[in-house]
Amino acid sequence: MPAGRLGGRTAVVTGAASGLGRAIAMRFAREGATVIVSDLQPEPIGTRADELPTVDVIDRAGGSAVFVRADVRQPEQVDALVTRATAITGRLDIVVNNAGLFGLSPLLETTEEKWDADLALNLRSQFLMCKRAIAQMITQDAVDEVRGRIVNISSQLGMTAAPGATTYGVAKAGVAQLTRQLAVDFAADGIIVNAIAPGRIITGTQAAEREYLATGATDEATRFSLSRTPFPRLGRPEDVAGAALFLASDDCTFISGHNLMVDGGWLAY
Ligand SMILES: NC(=O)c1ccc[n+]([C@@H]2O[C@H](COP(=O)([O-])OP(=O)(O)OC[C@H]3O[C@@H](n4cnc5c(N)ncnc54)[C@H](O)[C@@H]3O)[C@@H](O)[C@H]2O)c1
Repeated sequence: MPAGRLGGRTAVVTGAASGLGRAIAMRFAREGATVIVSDLQPEPIGTRADELPTVDVIDRAGGSAVFVRADVRQPEQVDALVTRATAITGRLDIVVNNAGLFGLSPLLETTEEKWDADLALNLRSQFLMCKRAIAQMITQDAVDEVRGRIVNISSQLGMTAAPGATTYGVAKAGVAQLTRQLAVDFAADGIIVNAIAPGRIITGTQAAEREYLATGATDEATRFSLSRTPFPRLGRPEDVAGAALFLASDDCTFISGHNLMVDGGWLAY
């Protein structure tokens, strides 16, 4: 078997052009997985213009990755993504449902259209991916009791409410419950389903975060997050990637339905 904690495994990571998905894809590739980097576009959004697409970074480091364009809100594109990933080795070992977008939606300003659109991106997409991926995984032979592993990215804001984050918070709470439900329903089939709830992770996607990374200058939101987080720093994408690696690896045994906080102790405070 190829070296690394994910040697020989095929992993799909959605929203993997940028941010947390990009870090997870890179970490999985370093651990020997063949990574299907899926996103709306291959180029990272909002980052430095000279930053390479995720697949190119993995390729240059000697890893194995392929980009597959898919909008996770569209069932036929989700279907094509899982079909393409499965064609590589005949099985799909790992799915990380990461694509999503934070935005504010105070109740009285939230139209029905916005509610539907936000939940389509942040919750329905994970239902679609889980349904299609698990339909494939239950047909596969078990390896050390496991037919497949799913890691859903929820959020600290699905566990606790932030002012005005109505649709996002409800969607991410739904992701945590979807995770528990599928863990129960498919435990006997050898499907392990867990979630990660990141706290405030500085990805550099937003302009204020790029400024903070470059100069240490903080805006009001960053100052609040720093003051509220017990750890003396905010999160890094690699913090989430390490947690995802654990949940996707053979070290994660007899653990399913869990929603792992990666938040520097925010929720414990
Ligand atoms: N960064 C944080 O502090 C934080 C905290 C908690 C949860 N999260 C969650 O982590 C995940 C990643 O967040 P991020 O901060 O890395 O975001 P990001 O904006 O940096 O990256 C998200 C990626 O998802 C892609 N994407 C968006 N819509 C898509 C669609 N319909 N289909 C396919 N891909 C799509 C984007 O193109 C982008 O590459 C999200 O689910 C987010 O809600 C992030």
